[in-house]
Amino acid sequence: MTKKKIIIDCDPGIDDTLALLYALQHPELEVVAVTVVAGNSPIELGVKNAFVSLELLNRLDIPVYKGAATPLVRNYVSAQDTHGMDGLGENDFQLKTSYRVQEQSADAFLADYFASEQDTAIIALGPLTNIAKAIERNPNLGQHCSRFVSMGGSFKSHGNCSPVAEYNYWCDPHAAQQVFQMLGRQVEMVGLDVTRSIVLTPNHLEYMSRLNSRMVDFIAKITRFYFDFHWEYEHIIGCVINDPLAIAHFINNDICTGFDSYTDVVTDGLAIGQTVVDQYHFHHKPSNSTILTSVNTHLFWTDFLTVILNAQKEVIAHDLNNLQLG
Ligand code: BDR
Ligand code: CA
Repeated sequence: MTKKKIIIDCDPGIDDTLALLYALQHPELEVVAVTVVAGNSPIELGVKNAFVSLELLNRLDIPVYKGAATPLVRNYVSAQDTHGMDGLGENDFQLKTSYRVQEQSADAFLADYFASEQDTAIIALGPLTNIAKAIERNPNLGQHCSRFVSMGGSFKSHGNCSPVAEYNYWCDPHAAQQVFQMLGRQVEMVGLDVTRSIVLTPNHLEYMSRLNSRMVDFIAKITRFYFDFHWEYEHIIGCVINDPLAIAHFINNDICTGFDSYTDVVTDGLAIGQTVVDQYHFHHKPSNSTILTSVNTHLFWTDFLTVILNAQKEVIAHDLNNLQLG
């Protein structure tokens, strides 16, 4: 099977880390590079956290590029309240080996890479600052990447930073707007409408520990803080893991469904960061996005757990049904 090439742009981050663990082990994916942007964690921490996943999986061969430390225009606001001061649930993981970040910046790398390569997709899991800057350097980037998937925004679901705005686009609304306007290909928007259905619960962790304790110890450690945050602010037991769904959607188009639309992003005022999805064509503009609105959670959990636990798909699918885990 030919693997699909992807570059992951991320801001690790607890759920970014789960997405990295998933993508890096997925038999259908080849992760060409990881680019990091300031978001959940300030940039230096985000870079370190990317290496935590790579080291855990023995994949330090994958190049990591450091990107933007601040949004294009707005003042930077991290999400350390959600992800912990270290970005990984306040575990303060120490790397065993020294790591080397690439010299080129993330946006320069992306611009150069897509000057020649045409068979690689970008999956963006954080604010879109690196991507907007890369498009400025190379306006053909959108035509040259094979797909562009972004975890961010929301259509009908309420926001997680304001009543209407999701964190990644709220953190850098100007970059998000620029990407929607300038990419020149569909932004596949995996927003809160679909990610809110992906809740990792203590029951998942208990089940996972029966199959693979090494990986689950790590996942339980990083999600503990996230569980507490979700209990306090959303009153749910468990945590919403947004970013892995963007990876799953890329792998299997049947997991999420939605519709094509013209979408813009609000860059100031009360609704800053909101995605305005023109479902009813008020603006008479050609569609620039695919807005994912419904999700088959069973398909997601089956693939995610199969890969993360290095297990048999049939066993996982059967157990999920039996144990009512999704
Ligand atoms: C997004 O914001 C971050 O906190 C998560 O990593 C995810 O990418 C959800 O709004
Ligand atoms: Ca993220």
